[in-house]
Amino acid sequence: MMQAMITTAYGSPEVFKLNQVAEPTVKPNEIRVRIKAAAVTKACTMMRTGKPYIGRLFTGLPKPKHRISGTGFAGVVDAVGAEVTRFKVGDSVFGENIASFGTYAQFVRVPEDGVVAHMPDALNYDAAAGMCDGGVTSLNFLKNLGEIKAGQKVLINGASGSLGSAAVQIAKHYGAEVVGVCGPSNVDFVKSLGADSVIDYTKVNFAETGNKYDLIYDTVGVRSFGDCKVALTDSGRYVSPVLGGAILGAMVYTSIFGKKKAMFSATGALPQKEIKRLLEELVDIIEAGHLQGYVDRSYPLQQLADAHKYVDMGHKRGNVVVVPSL
Ligand SMILES: NC(=O)c1ccc[n+]([C@@H]2O[C@H](COP(=O)([O-])OP(=O)(O)OC[C@H]3O[C@@H](n4cnc5c(N)ncnc54)[C@H](OP(=O)(O)O)[C@@H]3O)[C@@H](O)[C@H]2O)c1
Repeated sequence: MMQAMITTAYGSPEVFKLNQVAEPTVKPNEIRVRIKAAAVTKACTMMRTGKPYIGRLFTGLPKPKHRISGTGFAGVVDAVGAEVTRFKVGDSVFGENIASFGTYAQFVRVPEDGVVAHMPDALNYDAAAGMCDGGVTSLNFLKNLGEIKAGQKVLINGASGSLGSAAVQIAKHYGAEVVGVCGPSNVDFVKSLGADSVIDYTKVNFAETGNKYDLIYDTVGVRSFGDCKVALTDSGRYVSPVLGGAILGAMVYTSIFGKKKAMFSATGALPQKEIKRLLEELVDIIEAGHLQGYVDRSYPLQQLADAHKYVDMGHKRGNVVVVPSL
């Protein structure tokens, strides 16, 4: 038996209940991972609340289809199926169990060809678990949507969060000049990530400075394309991972009219092969020494509700993880 946090309904952080359930057993193409750390992300809180409601098409109607939630993990392989060739017992791995969730537990089973990779030596388990969601998503937005290039001027709004802290480092890896935007308590942190300059959003409205950017990545979705248009170069792009009517409308409109573009993507809905490819590229960036994972808080698994409450506040610095007991 193993400890797991079970959910049977959408709702507040109190929906999670600690329970004893059967340990997962592997199918021939799967590995079982003893979890050392699991990420608690904004996406996790959306899955917990079932809002926006459209997300329930994927997470279950009228209640969560997976009793054990959580997708980001890092840990040690402790069993492998008969057909597995890429991993062996004892390997340290990290990834996103997008298809079947289940990481708020002591063990999870993951398909060998899922979004899972060997953990780079430079990361510890907490940093690795926290890194996947923000790192993979920001790579998708900067590279695939933003088509980032060396020498471009790139602005990252929400530069101190999970997506933002990864984005600043990834944009620097690509050779961009990076301006980070965050609140006053995070200015030094964003500088330490490598941003060339930092704007405190409580003092300066970046869209009103007269500076122009080739790419604006609004990780927290608090500024619209309409707001940012004036701060884009003639063929600049505004990309944001936060779904809403405004970004979808702007995306459709700018796909037909004008050279400035607005773009959205649901990274988790990309084909698994593509997400896996993004994770592999992330590993290359980490191994090049250009990307570190930052953990704001680490909670015992039993305190998952407290971790969710903290993430819900919208001011985490980097990432939050939960750690199961041994
Ligand atoms: N579409 C996709 O593929 C996809 C994938 C993953 C996540 N997402 C979404 O991406 C969003 C961001 O996720 P996240 O985990 O990076 O969020 P997060 O870590 O919770 O972001 C927190 C950070 O945002 C900063 N912030 C808060 N208000 C701000 C403002 N008005 N202006 C600038 N910065 C501000 C905070 O800095 P201060 O404390 O200094 O204010 C804090 O460091 C979420 O809505 C999530 O659901 C989408």
